[in-house]
Amino acid sequence: MTHPVTQLIHHSYVPPEGFEAPQPGVFKASTVIFPSVAAMRSREWKDKSAYTYGLHGTPTSYQLEERLCTLEGGLQCLLVPSGLAALALVALSLLKSGDEVLLPDNAYDPNKSLVEGELMHWGISHQYYDPTDPQDLEAQISSRTKLVWLEAAGSVTLEFPDLVAMVRICKQRKVLCALDNTWGAGLAFNAFDLLPEDAPGLGVDISAHALTKYPSGGGDVLMGSVITREPGLHMRLKLTHMRLGLGVGMNDVEAVLRSLPSMALRYRAHDEAARALALWADSQAEFVQVLHPALPGSPGHAHWKALCVNTVGGAAGLFSVVLDERFSQDQTDAFCDALKLFKLGYSWGGPMSLVVPYALSRMRSGWPAHLEKGTLVRFAIGLEAVQDLQQDIAQALGVLR
Ligand SMILES: Cc1ncc(COP(=O)(O)O)c(C=O)c1O
Repeated sequence: MTHPVTQLIHHSYVPPEGFEAPQPGVFKASTVIFPSVAAMRSREWKDKSAYTYGLHGTPTSYQLEERLCTLEGGLQCLLVPSGLAALALVALSLLKSGDEVLLPDNAYDPNKSLVEGELMHWGISHQYYDPTDPQDLEAQISSRTKLVWLEAAGSVTLEFPDLVAMVRICKQRKVLCALDNTWGAGLAFNAFDLLPEDAPGLGVDISAHALTKYPSGGGDVLMGSVITREPGLHMRLKLTHMRLGLGVGMNDVEAVLRSLPSMALRYRAHDEAARALALWADSQAEFVQVLHPALPGSPGHAHWKALCVNTVGGAAGLFSVVLDERFSQDQTDAFCDALKLFKLGYSWGGPMSLVVPYALSRMRSGWPAHLEKGTLVRFAIGLEAVQDLQQDIAQALGVLR
């Protein structure tokens, strides 16, 4: 008989088989136990036929990966510790010294920071293209271009690009294209099959998704995914993923698995509330421009309409406003400070509405012709009652009157 202390580690009790509940079980591991040395030697970490090490996955992470593939229409998925890590994994895996990467000028700012602050030191150059002009993208593709980033809609200013034309250009020029799919979240459009009727299979090569936003839905988890449809491309990414030691905690995976079933409903609710508020904001004199892809007149509205109208939600819960140039940055900041329900914070996709003032001139190569001059404020709409949010913006506008 072994000592009770040993028994606590090597216990003989095995719970009965057949337990079933709405949520899958949570399997956590750094170490995976093998039944024999032969099994240890023969198990393949590169596919999901078995388990080898915590970093390579447990039944819990395998399940989330498969569900995300279903959500986004992909075939292989890698999980990483944040949305930004997903963007970084793609770049680090696919680019080497002498290569060039193209980004839309309205790309998520930390992705710009990654190419400017890290990739440049490794001899990888970058260019920014006009997100509203596929011809500008095409003109910037050279023999050195090995990766094109796409964003639909773009960060903060929410221009919706002609995604179909841009993907077609990348295919014709044989350059890999990766989409930051956080805004669409796999619900607004199918990134891997943009035109299922007219051009089946036309889509991006890679979808990077900040699961931190809508899939998590709580404002309390950081995670990202990189989804592909081509096994060879997936394996390139997977090898880098392994070499960099990127892993996620299973408690976080569980939180995302728990939120995923309600995601389509939440996305629709965020979308409806944002559209109602964006429409109302458009009638406020202080806002000279409202940026929301579903609003006629917003940059890229026609492209959004062509791609997203027949889907679950159609648009996310974000919109931005340009405040009249007569208002200083200090006044804009005072407006944001005066909001009560909208909290000051960056990471959207949760139940709480958020607001951020942005100084656009610092974020873009030049002031885009399609944007009115002024200070910019981005609203991320949560799940509160729309009339309360409208009232909150209305009362905060008082500081400008
Ligand atoms: C469009 C977009 N992509 C990526 C990210 C990065 O996600 P994370 O915060 O998980 O790093 C964000 C976060 O705000 C985002 O808005």
